[in-house]
Amino acid sequence: MAIPAAQDLVTAIQLTNYAKLILKVTGIRVSPQKRMLLSNRIRRRLKATGIKSYQAYYEQLCKLKVDDPEWDAFLEEITTHETYLFRDEAHWKWFREKYLPELSKAATGGKRKKELRIWSAACSTGDEAYTIASCIADGLTNCSQWKIEILGTDIGVGAVGSAQNAKFGTRAMRLVPDNIRKRFFQKQGAEDFWVPKPDLTRWTSFRQHNLLERPMMKPFDLIILKNVLIYFDDNAKQTTIGHLCKLLQPGGVFITSAADNANRFLTELDKQTPWMFRKPELAKKSAGGRKVVV
Ligand SMILES: C[S@@+](CC[C@H](N)C(=O)[O-])C[C@H]1O[C@@H](n2cnc3c(N)ncnc32)[C@H](O)[C@@H]1O
Repeated sequence: MAIPAAQDLVTAIQLTNYAKLILKVTGIRVSPQKRMLLSNRIRRRLKATGIKSYQAYYEQLCKLKVDDPEWDAFLEEITTHETYLFRDEAHWKWFREKYLPELSKAATGGKRKKELRIWSAACSTGDEAYTIASCIADGLTNCSQWKIEILGTDIGVGAVGSAQNAKFGTRAMRLVPDNIRKRFFQKQGAEDFWVPKPDLTRWTSFRQHNLLERPMMKPFDLIILKNVLIYFDDNAKQTTIGHLCKLLQPGGVFITSAADNANRFLTELDKQTPWMFRKPELAKKSAGGRKVVV
């Protein structure tokens, strides 16, 4: 038996089965219109593994644990890793011109410690995490006195590996302001690749994490989750946002993108702009029994 030819697509039943499995494991919706795309992607795995049919590959996936390398390879085929540094200009303008000065003022006024924890969730190849780091290195007053942790996570083991290797081509770097590129990135050899300097990498770490799973992490001041919920069904959006909101400090900020269409699930947070939400500060009982915001 030979591997299916390009014109032999998954059957309607196989499409439904694959779609259910992908949804269960990742939260990603696969619509019936994706039949050809999905078939092409699976066929690449058939060629790589030597498994001869869509059905046999499906059965194999069902048997394997999701941390098996074949699952990683399959996820690599079905996920979209599109990302680049300084994606969504308005977000970084806010981050540099409002968020960092606010932090600085609060620290100077003794209202907060010089500590900052940021999570770039579904970070793909880490471009967002290095954008955060370069804005901080460039714009946070006395940043060397701060304890800064920037965590990047993604379901894709390959994407996390690329984030750890931190090597960005011209396309990924095209929106990086010149002064930031010069100060915090260095060109590698004669190739058109830039690598972030230790000024940035000292703050970043990356690891594999599936957004559908409850994370065991310390709370964050800022969580950025962009351009991934757009692929999820409503249940997966709800689950993911539920996990993330629990990990936000009171007063912490959550950034999404308008395309993610997540507003109706963000009811625990206060909407500040169409893409920025803030967790309410803790309410404490005062001596008179009245609630006050701290
Ligand atoms: C289009 S990229 C977005 C990258 C970045 N956030 C940005 O906006 O530029 C979407 C990423 O979501 C990841 N992803 C998809 N499903 C996931 C899940 N269940 N858990 C964690 N990451 C997931 C993919 O592997 C991919 O790298």
